[in-house]
Amino acid sequence: MSKETDKLKHIAIIMDGNGRWAKKRGLPRTVGHKKGAETVKEICKAAEKTGLEYLTLYAFSTENWKRSQEEVDSLMDLLRQYLQSDLKELQDRGVKIRFIGERSMLPADIVEKMENLEAATKDNEKMTLCIALSYGSRQEILHAARRLSELAVRGDIAPSDIDEKLFSDMLYTKDIPDPDILIRTSGEQRISNYLLWQLAYTEFFFTETLWPDFNEKQLLEIIDSYKTRERRYGKIEAE
Ligand code: IPE
Ligand code: IPE
Ligand code: MG
Repeated sequence: MSKETDKLKHIAIIMDGNGRWAKKRGLPRTVGHKKGAETVKEICKAAEKTGLEYLTLYAFSTENWKRSQEEVDSLMDLLRQYLQSDLKELQDRGVKIRFIGERSMLPADIVEKMENLEAATKDNEKMTLCIALSYGSRQEILHAARRLSELAVRGDIAPSDIDEKLFSDMLYTKDIPDPDILIRTSGEQRISNYLLWQLAYTEFFFTETLWPDFNEKQLLEIIDSYKTRERRYGKIEAE
């Protein structure tokens, strides 16, 4: 029997396979990213319908900055459009928007749009849509370690004060519960620097489907399959 703590609250997704989706059709990778942005809309709506509290989407990693200037520029343009139109729609539906990642690497106009959206949606009480942008989990952990060292050097905390709660509070995901489900599309089975701390006891689901082809039905199938899993957290059996 599942416990109240196992109630499905949070799904994290690594949205992978846009490039391969386009390549299969002889199209430029940017077309795959555009189609992928449409899937984002469909999956957000589907997640909202299930009553999910948090949906965290990996949109751009710190390592993705190493892609060609052309691809990075087109992704940033797509993001600008998304921040202007689609996210406005989410705001109207009462979704709270949060961004996690290293903002200083992003163009200033995009950061401004992100901050405006966060401020405008901060009191919304429907699902929280958390978008990982210029996000890298190792960098996030290093950032937390530095902040904690600064506090300790200043004498504001003692090293023994650093526990899981305090450490979690220093991460970009402060106040967001750990994901219950992680989904990665496109057949790759790796984490790619995503939520390393937060995924400690998350249930993993990998699908061969490329992100632009992922849909509501597949999301619901994964949720059904999650319900049959037994989360033991190191104990002998779930209580
Ligand atoms: C995921 O699709 C989107 C981003 C990483 C921005 P990819 O662009 O990684 O697509 P593949 O993996 O090359 O097919
Ligand atoms: C992970 O996908 C990042 C995002 C989906 C935003 P990548 O395509 O960048 O990951 P690797 O390079 O295959 O590990
Ligand atoms: Mg990829």
